[in-house]
Amino acid sequence: MEKDTTPNNVTPLEGKSKKSTQKPSQLWVVASGKGGVGKTFVTTSLAFTLSKLGHSVVIVDLDLSGANVHTAIGMPPSHMNIRHYFEGAKTLQELVIPTAYPKLSYVQGFWDSWTPTDFSYNEIQKLIPELKQLRADYVLVDLGAGALEPHLDLFRAADEKILLTSPEPTSIEKTYRFIEAYMCHSLKDSACPAAFGSMISTLRNHRQRTLNQPFSFKSYLKDQSGISYEFFESLSSNPVRLMVNSCRSPANTELGHSIKSVCNKYYDLGIDFAASINYDNAVWQSVKVRTPALVAQPFTPLAGQFLNSCKHLIDPEDLRAVV
Ligand SMILES: Nc1ncnc2c1ncn2[C@@H]1O[C@H](COP(=O)(O)OP(=O)(O)OP(=O)(O)O)[C@@H](O)[C@H]1O
Ligand SMILES: [Mg+2]
Repeated sequence: MEKDTTPNNVTPLEGKSKKSTQKPSQLWVVASGKGGVGKTFVTTSLAFTLSKLGHSVVIVDLDLSGANVHTAIGMPPSHMNIRHYFEGAKTLQELVIPTAYPKLSYVQGFWDSWTPTDFSYNEIQKLIPELKQLRADYVLVDLGAGALEPHLDLFRAADEKILLTSPEPTSIEKTYRFIEAYMCHSLKDSACPAAFGSMISTLRNHRQRTLNQPFSFKSYLKDQSGISYEFFESLSSNPVRLMVNSCRSPANTELGHSIKSVCNKYYDLGIDFAASINYDNAVWQSVKVRTPALVAQPFTPLAGQFLNSCKHLIDPEDLRAVV
């Protein structure tokens, strides 16, 4: 039977009105260059871990290519889904559905559109503050794959920008493309169109190896008027958090350090290597039986890796004892 998703069905915690003095939710957005690298698994596992640390969490499924957060957390799909928000029939808060797990709720992604779906710039700009106003300590967004414009808008607006890769070359390559797109998308906002256009054509020349020197954003931007250099510098101060999922060897586990140093060397961009997560057969086996891996096996090294990731990412003031 489908769950009733009326506001009356929210858990007591969610039902409490969020006082205006209460701080906004922390928005964590999980993105990847390549599909199938584990975004949904990582988003839901971070959410479980945060909820077990005592924080209220809402997962919002914004994967336009196929919502499946509900499957990852063992819920049936709800006909009340984010389509109703975009059509203006419901607020985002009204779409929050409690799960069987304490302090963990979610917003069902597009599940009954039957037509290609896309977000406009204006829709995303309206959505971002609503995400931060959801009644929860943390709001975790699971995106579809790739550096698409709405993904980059949401990623940039996040308090924590989590970029996921697997250790495979195809994923690593798309991770670099995502980072480049993220940088350019961010710089575009602080640039006049002519200056931005000439930066893109300089980048293309470097990519085609028609220029000898490796491209340095730092030295290029310092010499240019029309793009704010300070804005570029700020990209490293709220850094992209790189997570490497499905690691099967010590070399895989170390990969994040290499990607971080390449970003420093070739893009002048400081990123944070937040975590590596093991490949574990329990993950796909647990999806089959609709019980999340961290619920079925809460005391494994995998669960420990998510606990460490959360401790690394959350504000020390918000860190409470594990319950
Ligand atoms: N650490 C892991 N160990 C073993 N299997 C994993 C791991 N992470 C993810 N998987 C499996 O890999 C598959 C893809 O995972 P998931 O659906 O989370 O990826 P995704 O990035 O969200 O994909 P999409 O881009 O299609 O949304 C699933 O079958 C999942 O169970
Ligand atoms: Mg997914």
